[in-house]
Amino acid sequence: MRRNSPIGIFDSGYGGLTILEQIRKRLPQYDYLYFGDNARTPYGTRSFEVVYRYTLQCVEQMFAMGCELVILACNTASAKALRSIQQRDLPHIAPERRVLGVIRPTVEVIGQITKTNHVGLLATPGTVQSDSYRIEIEKYYPSVVLHSEACPMWVPLIENNEHLSEGADYFVKKYLDALLGKDGMIDTVILGCTHYPLLLGKIRKYAPASVRFLSQGEIVAESLADYLVRHPEMEERCSLGAFCSYFTTESVDKFSASASIFLREDIKVSHVDLGV
Ligand code: DGL
Repeated sequence: MRRNSPIGIFDSGYGGLTILEQIRKRLPQYDYLYFGDNARTPYGTRSFEVVYRYTLQCVEQMFAMGCELVILACNTASAKALRSIQQRDLPHIAPERRVLGVIRPTVEVIGQITKTNHVGLLATPGTVQSDSYRIEIEKYYPSVVLHSEACPMWVPLIENNEHLSEGADYFVKKYLDALLGKDGMIDTVILGCTHYPLLLGKIRKYAPASVRFLSQGEIVAESLADYLVRHPEMEERCSLGAFCSYFTTESVDKFSASASIFLREDIKVSHVDLGV
């Protein structure tokens, strides 16, 4: 088998860059292809059907660009599209390729981290409504109590590069207070949207020091490393150039300017036209 496939990292926008950064730290040897559907972000307020259709279209595009393995570095897409893609579509369109999500790896570690067994989830309305975290947590850790709060304003603040502004404080405090007000025993909060680590500074400012916030980057990176060890047939296809290419469905200039802030480095971006 020839090593000629970059690992695909998909998000509706910039959020997946927080996952990509940690994956590249943990597994620097591989090539990566980042794909942001910025033209249609946010996904978090859209219906199941639309998130599924958009995600599948992007995954097929990433397959056409040479990815054999795609990580949905987006909780909303993982919650609303992953299972259908894995079970319904992959067997027909690409039985040898794989698509993985970010929810299960996050849930797998949660029971080892919480001491009180009272856990909070901050996520997009779509992820919260899907109930995916509750369903997965019940499977792995039935004694864990989960409280969720949807944060519809957080992704737009980040996508518009307003997350460090004074105005952002209002919305950070609003959703955080709503979540923590539900249960005083919450000791661990999942940042269940890949955009949210960008708000971590402000989140910590308004939260008690006793509450731990879980970003997904390191967890997903560790889980991918483990997956590649357990699946040598996939690992052998991943190309080893330590190179990352970036693609967006939006304007290249807009993506480069914002992504450089996220990644703190200059990057070269190409436009993809999905014909929509
Ligand atoms: N980054 C995505 C997630 O992890 C959501 C962004 C969006 O709403 O499009 O859920």
